[in-house]
Amino acid sequence: MCGIIGYIGRKPVERVLLTGLHRLEYRGYDSAGVATLNGSGGIHVRRVVGRVRDLERHLQQDPVPGTLGIAHTRWATHGRPSEINAHPHLDASGRLALVHNGIIENHDTIRTFLEGQGITFRSETDTEALVQLIGFLYEQTGDLVESVRRALRDVDGTYGIALLCRDAPETLIAARRGSPLLVGIGEDEYLVSSDGSAIIEHTSQVVYLQDGEIAVLGPAGLTITTTDAVPVEAEVSELEMTLEQIELAGFEHHMLKEIYEQPETLRDTMRGRIDAREGRVKLGGLVTCEREIARARRLLLAGCGTAWHAALVGEYLFEELARVPTEVEYASELRYRNPIIDEGTLALVISQSGETADTLAALREMKTKGATVLGVVNVVGSTIARETDAGVYLRVGPEIGVASTKAFTAQIAVLAMLAVDMGRRRHLSPWQTAEVLAELEAIPEKVEQALKLDEQVQDLARQLVDRDNWLYLGRGVNYPVALEGALKLKEISYIHAEGLPAAEMKHGPIALIDKGMPVVVVAPRDHMHDKIVSNIEEIRSRQGRVIAVTTEGDTRLRGLADAVLEVPATLPILSPLVTTIPLQLLAYHCARLRGHDVDKPRNLAKSVTVE
Ligand code: AGP
Ligand code: GLU
Repeated sequence: MCGIIGYIGRKPVERVLLTGLHRLEYRGYDSAGVATLNGSGGIHVRRVVGRVRDLERHLQQDPVPGTLGIAHTRWATHGRPSEINAHPHLDASGRLALVHNGIIENHDTIRTFLEGQGITFRSETDTEALVQLIGFLYEQTGDLVESVRRALRDVDGTYGIALLCRDAPETLIAARRGSPLLVGIGEDEYLVSSDGSAIIEHTSQVVYLQDGEIAVLGPAGLTITTTDAVPVEAEVSELEMTLEQIELAGFEHHMLKEIYEQPETLRDTMRGRIDAREGRVKLGGLVTCEREIARARRLLLAGCGTAWHAALVGEYLFEELARVPTEVEYASELRYRNPIIDEGTLALVISQSGETADTLAALREMKTKGATVLGVVNVVGSTIARETDAGVYLRVGPEIGVASTKAFTAQIAVLAMLAVDMGRRRHLSPWQTAEVLAELEAIPEKVEQALKLDEQVQDLARQLVDRDNWLYLGRGVNYPVALEGALKLKEISYIHAEGLPAAEMKHGPIALIDKGMPVVVVAPRDHMHDKIVSNIEEIRSRQGRVIAVTTEGDTRLRGLADAVLEVPATLPILSPLVTTIPLQLLAYHCARLRGHDVDKPRNLAKSVTVE
């Protein structure tokens, strides 16, 4: 689930691994470790609970030698975070070291079998079952690669692995199933990583491993085979990221940098895709599915977390602009729900990382049922991007902050473009189309304006940061914005927050409101404005503290709410793109004031590649 970096080449490996681990830190983890090989001198393992800098300190006292090694940041799934459970794990003979992302589902059966063979386990992890199994098979056959293949055929679940062996001091082995892994090809060196950002300073030439493939790296080059030993031709691609994109550029946190990048990322998302004067949208990635898009009678959208919120905004966009009935499902529910897919259903999955296990499973389930599945994905070449029938990339560059921000606004922009395109093919007139597109094109500037609220939001955060329970309310297309605002606050400041459709409050949650409780109300000027004003009155009567996000110049709310955050006016259906900005800033400042690690919140991982 978390990070893997491996290296074989001429450079001292300790530095390469540590820099790589630092680049992987954004994914969220609880412990870290390295194993290196120094000729026949044996395997050197160092592991710590805590941050990569703790591992770095440990290595300053007790360095590891060699030019071949593997390293890991662990996000515990089986066994608490502890040094003994941290990766790399060794087999019983101490000849093999392995790092693993994912979950070995039949670890219990393997463990019981191997314990019956006299093998003693040291950790509580599922991972140890895999390395012990490889070690056991290697003991019997003496063939390292074949032992890896056989073990991988025997395990259920998901894995991205990197492995080294004392008997093969010039070989690094990597394999994947359901957990991303790529091989970087440098000059006289290879790297293995779960994430391009960990290797970009060494090379941009990569091979994305596919499920069921094993790569063997060494002086003889790169060989890829399947777990059934069938040779596979390596397909080299170019990594689409730069070092600057993954650095902080003067900002205190990646999250803040990414919030501020939004005017630019939104321009990138829309660049070349909109022709407002002609009233046309051109989404190049979808041309192969034009027929299905034109004929769709129903849309089924799926995603998790923030991507699910973007899908909810999409529901309003598709129904209003394209008049196509739209359903939104949590990917984690959809995968087990036997969804109804008929001829007119077009499915769409949304994922920043393109690796979220639940979203991937939902995609596969819908494909099994015959659906055409489109993807709205950020990470180029990710599994979801590859497995969807067609798709649109967000083009926002790497999102490092665990709390998603720039991906959310880009997801909405892509859904809006697609909704306009579908609407134009159905009932939108050329001038209606042109109006929406012109407004979309004006959004980046309005986001720029909305960012000017930063100081006001900071003051507000100072006043409210001690409150432990918050409500976020919104109506219509701004209801998902309220959900997203609450999620942001929860994720990074650990304050309890609940998002609700404003009118639902009186059906129960209103009981929570007491003196001074912060209630953030997303209330831009639209046809429901009067209704939401009544909701605000209800909160005031119970002495809740209202923070209203509304449209610039809305004098009515100034007298009503305790604080008013005014964002530029736009079409009501596009308003989430601007109303969400102050909520991102509010969550950020609360987390910072509470002294939390904004980019690496506790218990969270950037991409959730386990169920
Ligand atoms: C967002 O702030 C969260 N960290 C999380 O909800 C995230 O959106 C979710 O896990 C989906 O990730 P994906 O977009 O990479 O699929
Ligand atoms: N399931 C493994 C463990 O708990 C790997 C977790 C991860 O992907 O970081 O150790």
